[in-house]
Amino acid sequence: MKKFKKILAKKNRSKIICLTAYSKNIAEEVDKYADIVLVGDSLGSVLYNYSSTRKVTLTEMINHSKSVRLGVKKSLMVVDMPYKTYDTNVSALKNAKKIIKETKCDAVKLEGGKKIIKQVKFLMKNKIPVMGHLGLLPQSTKGKFKSKGKSSREIKQLISDALSLQREGVFAIVLECVKSSVAKQITKSLSIPTIGIGSSVFCDGQVLVTDDLLGLNQTKIKFVKRFLNLKKHINIGLRKFSSEVKSKKYPSKKHSY
Ligand code: KIV
Repeated sequence: MKKFKKILAKKNRSKIICLTAYSKNIAEEVDKYADIVLVGDSLGSVLYNYSSTRKVTLTEMINHSKSVRLGVKKSLMVVDMPYKTYDTNVSALKNAKKIIKETKCDAVKLEGGKKIIKQVKFLMKNKIPVMGHLGLLPQSTKGKFKSKGKSSREIKQLISDALSLQREGVFAIVLECVKSSVAKQITKSLSIPTIGIGSSVFCDGQVLVTDDLLGLNQTKIKFVKRFLNLKKHINIGLRKFSSEVKSKKYPSKKHSY
């Protein structure tokens, strides 16, 4: 409970940092800077080249999350519920319980508003902490990136969805590719934090796919900023290894039994 309260307390005070991780070694580093570590189903495209997150399975999410759990010590750990695993109240509860039991994560994330509000309500009633996700919903859009909140109908729906999710007790809502002015309006209307991705500085926090910001995954998505060219550094290390093996500098006596 303490971790959820800490995140809530940041609203209107300091920015919330959310980052993805798919395995232990990255999770260990991400955990030092993040308030929330998300095992996102973006791992489908980032690690497996799937054309959409719809192909990600519950087993894949659980296996990656188990690895992430080993690296996360202080942050709140959230796991995405994959496509088709929360179609009904019964399936949502069964699969959320399985995710939490097997991965020891703190919460699950579901995509959508009105369409899934019954499932969110049911999970909350059964004491499963939920994070919301509105705006561009990768599980519904098959990988196309289009901004949301352009028409007045869309804006109304987004605001109404955000308020409904808050009413049902989600602890935060990811806003993906939501127009800046709309993200600002939603953030102001809620007492829970919004976590933006491509949704402007007006959100209470930001999330990015760690592989994207480190330059491990090459992408041209507008909201991605590459903060480091990690591939370059990896290549330096690998080139050195290869060269030392070829020149017989490695392994020296020090590295041999
Ligand atoms: O799947 C994911 O990584 C996500 C974030 C990018 C918000 O949902």
